[in-house]
Amino acid sequence: MPAVVLVGAQWGDEGKGKITDFLAEEADCVVRYQGGSNAGHTVELADEKFMLHLIPSGILHAEKICVIGNGVVIDLGKVIEEINGLHLRGIDTSNLKISSRASIVMPYHKMIDEIEDRTKKIGTTKRGIGPAYADKISRVGFRICDLLHEEYFREKFTAEVRRKNELLENLYNEPGFDAEEMIGQLMAQIAELKQYIDDTGYLVHSTLKAGNKVLFEGAQGTLLDIDHGTYPYVTSSYPTAGGACVGSGIGPTEMGRVIGVAKAYTTRVGEGPFPTELLDDTGELFRQRGAEFGTTTGRPRRCGWLDAVILRYAARVNGLTDLAITKLDVLDTFSTVKICIAYRYKGELLYEFPDNNAVLQECVPEYIEMPGWNQDISKITEFKDLPPTTRQYIAKIEDLCGVKQSLISVGPKRSQTIVSNRLF
Ligand code: IMP
Repeated sequence: MPAVVLVGAQWGDEGKGKITDFLAEEADCVVRYQGGSNAGHTVELADEKFMLHLIPSGILHAEKICVIGNGVVIDLGKVIEEINGLHLRGIDTSNLKISSRASIVMPYHKMIDEIEDRTKKIGTTKRGIGPAYADKISRVGFRICDLLHEEYFREKFTAEVRRKNELLENLYNEPGFDAEEMIGQLMAQIAELKQYIDDTGYLVHSTLKAGNKVLFEGAQGTLLDIDHGTYPYVTSSYPTAGGACVGSGIGPTEMGRVIGVAKAYTTRVGEGPFPTELLDDTGELFRQRGAEFGTTTGRPRRCGWLDAVILRYAARVNGLTDLAITKLDVLDTFSTVKICIAYRYKGELLYEFPDNNAVLQECVPEYIEMPGWNQDISKITEFKDLPPTTRQYIAKIEDLCGVKQSLISVGPKRSQTIVSNRLF
């Protein structure tokens, strides 16, 4: 299928950056469709480590068209920083395309995010994501295309900064912003980015029509989705597969396979209930062995056993056709491994993911325990060479969520990927 959507099946940080980079080899075009610089994708190439926030991981492959779609909220300063960082390391960015319809994260969005999270306590990344999406939906946001019409932009922007300053000064007791100073900065930034701006919906559509392969790279994960996630402890966009359509301007009939990237255990950053969370030495072992510290904020991630209730839910809301199981090697030292198959809530067993945190925070995981493999699997390149207990663990995951795996990652490098099924 020429259009493949890749989504996070848990709370983000599933290793999507690595899988995108791996699949990008076969794609002609890679599209980011939601989120912003709250995302952090790590890709290891040869002996180099790349941290990407806004630019699709496909950029590390020469010749691939890399799109930041209309559904992304863009911090112009951050994208320039990322482009310059790639140039310094010899990476060509001439194939980067930024949607003229994408919304902009303004400096006041970051300040409001910071201030509001002090009381809301979502544990946001403080990158201005929520306030930028809120303004987009309230129709007081600004898009890339607005900056290309300075007079039109200046009038609307000055009025909006006046409103934002009233909010900051009167409600939050914080200093306001100087609209003219910001306009100067935004104009300088847009001049620098002009060469990358495009009607990316048209571009991606034409790419597909020409028979080329497009990979839609989701950021965050299913449980951080504004509708399907653990609201309000979610991000403000649609990381689920449907988001790939609205966030890129491509219709659902174009989408072929949907790959759910799932870590072999579970992690979460920020606040909110997490049934399989381990606050003991085992949780710490996951954190250390899996280097579970946020790419964007450096925060230690909360860790726990794999939760199949979540994966089943992700399979349903995304219409998953394939699984990519990552970080399986992190479980190498365990003599037994556990999978949560249901939640016990007030004496009842729940097999479906609850809609409410009041229920979720009372849920006690119901585990099955399986033998571990207690050996290094990080150099294995063929599925058949995995230890029998590892294969049993994978088969159990497939069985519990009703989706077969196509890829398994046993380490951060491209070469540490076991392919069972080609995805394009
Ligand atoms: P925001 O997206 O910065 O508004 O943060 C909202 C919630 O989503 C917080 O719990 C963040 O920790 C979480 N979050 C946002 N981006 C990511 C990500 O890329 N990985 C994991 N969690 C994320």
